[in-house]
Amino acid sequence: MNKVILAIESSCDETSVAIIDLNGNILNEITKTQIDLHKIYGGVVPEIASRSHLAEIQNILETILKNIKKEDIVAVAATGGPGLIGGLIVGVMVAKGIAISLNIPFIAVNHLRGHALSSKIENKSFEYPFLLLLISGGHCQILSAKSFDDYQILGKTIDDSVGEAFDKVARMLGFDYPGGIFIQQEAIKGDKYKYKFKIPMTSGNNPDFSFSGLKTNVLHTIQKIEKLTTQNISDIAASFQYTVAKTIEKKLEIAIEKYKQYSFEGKNKLGVCGGVAANIEIRETLQQLCLKHDFELFIPSIKYCTDNASMIAIAALEAYNNKQFNTFDFEPKSQWRLF
Ligand code: KG4
Ligand code: ZN
Repeated sequence: MNKVILAIESSCDETSVAIIDLNGNILNEITKTQIDLHKIYGGVVPEIASRSHLAEIQNILETILKNIKKEDIVAVAATGGPGLIGGLIVGVMVAKGIAISLNIPFIAVNHLRGHALSSKIENKSFEYPFLLLLISGGHCQILSAKSFDDYQILGKTIDDSVGEAFDKVARMLGFDYPGGIFIQQEAIKGDKYKYKFKIPMTSGNNPDFSFSGLKTNVLHTIQKIEKLTTQNISDIAASFQYTVAKTIEKKLEIAIEKYKQYSFEGKNKLGVCGGVAANIEIRETLQQLCLKHDFELFIPSIKYCTDNASMIAIAALEAYNNKQFNTFDFEPKSQWRLF
């Protein structure tokens, strides 16, 4: 049996555990989503989330460790932040407990680094340097990742993340949390050119995002419609999704120009990650953008866009190879910048 690292993700509403070998192969992952517990509240309820992580983690660990010999585990990792503190505490304390009992290193992984490297779960050629678009429920950033310890921010949201915008617009249209998938499903039936929502912050050479204006724009459009029909809903969803895709395209074009100022060997790479990277229209837009600028696109398959422990395991292996271990006084962080 190969030597392995055990990784735990519990920063939001997925309890997930994965096993990775030292060659970067994910041997197993078990993920239990809490979406059904939270959707009646229209968003993640932190107290419910942490209780559910606590209730699930033991079973998941017992199942995943059935075929693993204790002596083959060389390190144990957990998401150390950013995220909901109760969930982070559960994952970190369990990981520390295992590390202490097996006398192996403990690694606290930044959740954003996990997303950043998520393309590597399925494609080992995803190596530094790369331009990175991180579009999740909690974050919206464009980064230049030159090496393991050199990430620089090129653009970020000044208000909502893309995922929040999707979720809020979905709620306005009467859909459950998390709303991104419902917008996508509705958009298929709609006309994306029907409503001309303004692409936010297009002036100048600024790669920062803003989604609160677009959200208000959609709200005002809905309020003006006397009786919302199913066709209106599909058209609004399609037009909103199209505007978001165009916004991302515009901001990335600005970031690409900045990124091209650095000189790297070989073909430039764009890594895309986070829950919103599951969106089909955004994926297609990014494919076209990469063709235009001669970038190689790295984007995980849909199941690895949302939170999972495999991406935490990939980041843990990177830390392990760089001998970046944490001491047992590590405190989980609800805020933890990647750069
Ligand atoms: O990365 P993630 O699982 O959680 C965070 O770390 O934040 O992202 C969740 C977000 C939610 O806002 C959800 O609505 C959005 O990803 N999402 C989508 C799609 N699937 C998930 N947004 C647009 N289209 C999708 N297909
Ligand atoms: Zn995430």
